[in-house]
Amino acid sequence: MSLSHAEIVADNREYTLASWTAQKAWNPVSMAKAEGIYYWDGDGRRYIDWASQLVNVNVGHGHPHVIKAIQDQVAQVAYAYPGIATEPRGRLGELLREITPDGLTKSFFTLGGSDAIENAMKMARLYTGRQKVLTRYRSYHGATFGAMTAGGDPRRLANEPGVPWIVRMHDPYPYRSPLYRNRTADEGDQALIDQIEETILFEGPENCAAILLEGYSGTSGIMQGGNVYWRGIQNLCDKYGILLIIDEVMSGFGRTGEWFGINHYPFVKPDLLVMAKGLTSGYVPMGAVAVRDKIAAYFEENTLWGGLTYSAHTLACAAAIANIEVYRNENLIANSREMGKVLRAGLLDLAEKHPCIGDIRGTGLHQVIELVKNRETREPMSGWNNPASEPMQKVAGSLRNGGLTTFVRFDWIFNAPPLVINREQIQEGLDIIDQALTLADPYCVE
Ligand SMILES: Cc1ncc(COP(=O)(O)O)c(C=O)c1O
Repeated sequence: MSLSHAEIVADNREYTLASWTAQKAWNPVSMAKAEGIYYWDGDGRRYIDWASQLVNVNVGHGHPHVIKAIQDQVAQVAYAYPGIATEPRGRLGELLREITPDGLTKSFFTLGGSDAIENAMKMARLYTGRQKVLTRYRSYHGATFGAMTAGGDPRRLANEPGVPWIVRMHDPYPYRSPLYRNRTADEGDQALIDQIEETILFEGPENCAAILLEGYSGTSGIMQGGNVYWRGIQNLCDKYGILLIIDEVMSGFGRTGEWFGINHYPFVKPDLLVMAKGLTSGYVPMGAVAVRDKIAAYFEENTLWGGLTYSAHTLACAAAIANIEVYRNENLIANSREMGKVLRAGLLDLAEKHPCIGDIRGTGLHQVIELVKNRETREPMSGWNNPASEPMQKVAGSLRNGGLTTFVRFDWIFNAPPLVINREQIQEGLDIIDQALTLADPYCVE
């Protein structure tokens, strides 16, 4: 049986609910087949997967090594409850100890990013005996109750006031933040760190369990602090005994050209590191929290108050092991770094041509274009939390008609294809973006 695109969409709309949208506005692409960086809808129309679905299919679609590992595992032991020890669970824990920053020794497994964030915050609160978690305004950490409050992104607003123990900090965003006005990026980073220290003092350091930050900022616009910012964060954590939780759900597993986004700042010592997405490239849902040895030691003596029926699911463990093997055997981290340079050069070329491009941010295969109406004044093309301005809708429509899907939010076009992409395929994507930007240029004003 294979349904047409229209039939697939009709069934989905009739019987299922879609995320983050009023249902009548949901007009999805369908997917009937997928391979590498491409997928095809029910009518056989091909799309370039320019956002690796939701920035998770890092090894590309249909990877034979991952498929085989899952098939072999399902035939052997499909499921064991979390109180049982299994070979793939132990092996995956060992691999995560190898690839995560030094000192992270043990992992707890979840079903995805949100519940991994919940567990990381819970562990930090249990370990420190403190309550508050400091997060950024422009951040996303998931959609379960606590994780949704933790993310400062406007998606949290429907869940307000959320959990009471989240405190928000301003963002390292030199392009727009008032703190960076008339300052260099380093001076702005320092001013921001000084402000964060003030926030900690106002909140009472003795109440602050953790600072939670994305290792490399993602859906909130890829706004990333530099060395001064990250050194400042590490110093504040050390000075006040606050744990550092690094969310690598999106930026992990080669996305930014390193195993983890935080590897760009080798002096940062995460206490808890949260993973999901590229851990299994989406072949089976899974998340994880890796913890520093001192936290692992604490839970030797103290109960870890948490558990999930599907924690350490054997199929997910097998998929994750196979993914890590693919990252290693196919040098995908290095490929992300190299192809990231090609992507960035291509985006800079587009900026020469299109006055609507205001800023390009990111590294590796993790880059965003920010559109403006005026480069001098930086007047936004759409504006913060404006989901559907006319120019951005036109851009999104043109990308899709051109055969490329990615997420287009507020003023941003995200560029995050699977790490297996090559030069020719990058050019293919850039040509489609080039076309789409011609629809935004006329909105530029003097
Ligand atoms: C940085 C970050 N953290 C957490 C999450 C939540 O992960 P999940 O959707 O798997 O629950 C996401 C999802 O996009 C994310 O990008």
